[in-house]
Amino acid sequence: MPDATEEYPNLESVPLDAPQFEVAAKNVKRTEYVTFAAFVLGFIGFAAFGAAYTQNAPTYLLGLTIGLGLFFFGFGLVSWGKYLMPQGPFSEPRPLMETTRQEKELLKADFTSRGKVAIKRRSFLVKAMAAAGGVFGIVAAFPLIRSLGPLPKNSLMTTKWRKGSYLTTIYGDRVKPSDVAVGGIVTVFPEDDLGSAISQTILLRVKESGPIVTMPGREDWAPDGFVAYSKVCTHAGCPVGLYEHLEQLLVCPCHQSMFNVKDGAMPVFGPAPRPLPQLPIYIDSDGYFRARAGYDEPIGPGFWTRGGTA
Ligand code: FES
Repeated sequence: MPDATEEYPNLESVPLDAPQFEVAAKNVKRTEYVTFAAFVLGFIGFAAFGAAYTQNAPTYLLGLTIGLGLFFFGFGLVSWGKYLMPQGPFSEPRPLMETTRQEKELLKADFTSRGKVAIKRRSFLVKAMAAAGGVFGIVAAFPLIRSLGPLPKNSLMTTKWRKGSYLTTIYGDRVKPSDVAVGGIVTVFPEDDLGSAISQTILLRVKESGPIVTMPGREDWAPDGFVAYSKVCTHAGCPVGLYEHLEQLLVCPCHQSMFNVKDGAMPVFGPAPRPLPQLPIYIDSDGYFRARAGYDEPIGPGFWTRGGTA
């Protein structure tokens, strides 16, 4: 772009490296440093989010890191726009309302030149902003790259329950028959997945003693009056935590689906489309409940019946 004063020598020129405008910041240097620091902290927050995401860190850590990254990055942008950019209102005496071609060309060249100077004077802020914004763009793609499509592989189909897993409370205490009264329930987890929303299982004592055969082929899945089902509702995934002992029904509090405990947790009311998966259990020689195997089908809402892969 030609310099406007070369093309139109009669027009008055203003040195471009001189201050061209007023900004709101009282101490410009200090505001620039604060803005720069905000971009750097935003960069660190986004990078920490990326690291936490790839390490499968807890959800609160993901929220904390991305939240801090967005906060500082946004703070930097607001600080720059509010305190370091030219402040209006702008006015210019204009004796004529008509704009000549010469004036248009001058304005165009002047605008471009001033823009370059304004950006050049704060190139370190531009670099910091670009670095923070760039890393944000990269980590924002992580959920797409890692969590969608085929990449979860088989993780949605299985839980941490394995052959021999102890049934333990959320505090890690192994459960034995004397811990649960008839009509009572306890939520249990595998020892290596305490508190898991996926592996949570409900252990019920339906009767005093004797096996419960919920379906043909499950003769040894529910010993001594105890039976265990996945606690994740097959409708929309709420925890099925209510047990009506007289009717022997498990009830989901979200949309009132009811599951017949003695009939393989077959749904008898509500929107749940299929039974709760049953966990085969036994009592070992030390008197503790253990799993005979993991669930033989995926737990929770049946996305695989609507086009997923089993
Ligand atoms: S989530 Fe259980 S009935 Fe809807």
